[in-house]
Amino acid sequence: MDTTLHRMTAVDSQPRGQASAADAVPASSTRIAAPEIGIAEKQRQAVVAILNTVLADEFVLYTKTRRFHWNVQGPDFSELHDLFQKQYEQLGQIVDDVAERARSLDGVAAGSLEEYVRLTRLDEQPTMGYDARGMIAALLADHETLIRNLRQDLRICSDQHGDEGTMDFLTALMQAHEKTAWMLRAHLR
Ligand SMILES: [Fe+2]
Repeated sequence: MDTTLHRMTAVDSQPRGQASAADAVPASSTRIAAPEIGIAEKQRQAVVAILNTVLADEFVLYTKTRRFHWNVQGPDFSELHDLFQKQYEQLGQIVDDVAERARSLDGVAAGSLEEYVRLTRLDEQPTMGYDARGMIAALLADHETLIRNLRQDLRICSDQHGDEGTMDFLTALMQAHEKTAWMLRAHLR
């Protein structure tokens, strides 16, 4: 980051009014600081789009899990209240990690609720009125949807876009969801 700032500053401080070949090219700091990481920009932006879709899914599931943390009731209240808190805290960290992965590829991380609702592949229907078991089943269904989607996403990142870094990142994410899904599934048996 320090290098980027230094280079951007160096361009901005060039003397004005002296035409040169460089003036034919827009003095864009984006161009100067474009990532040279062996992935073409078009491919990189395609991966960023995938990451923003994953980000939307994770944020919707984070919000749903937090809502269930607040509203769960019944004989298992204490256990489920704590379980859902642990899970939304993990999802909060995942949200941050996915957004910063998009930034690592020089993309813009989606950050508005409107974008998340538009991009998500999860069902964002009103879920008030679920009993405790229904909440667990709803969360399990969402984690399993995420697992299936991530399995496709990570293959696309590698096979179509040559981005093994994001493939590895999404693989670890899928594994985290597989573990959470196991814990939720165990409550239903
Ligand atoms: Fe709380």
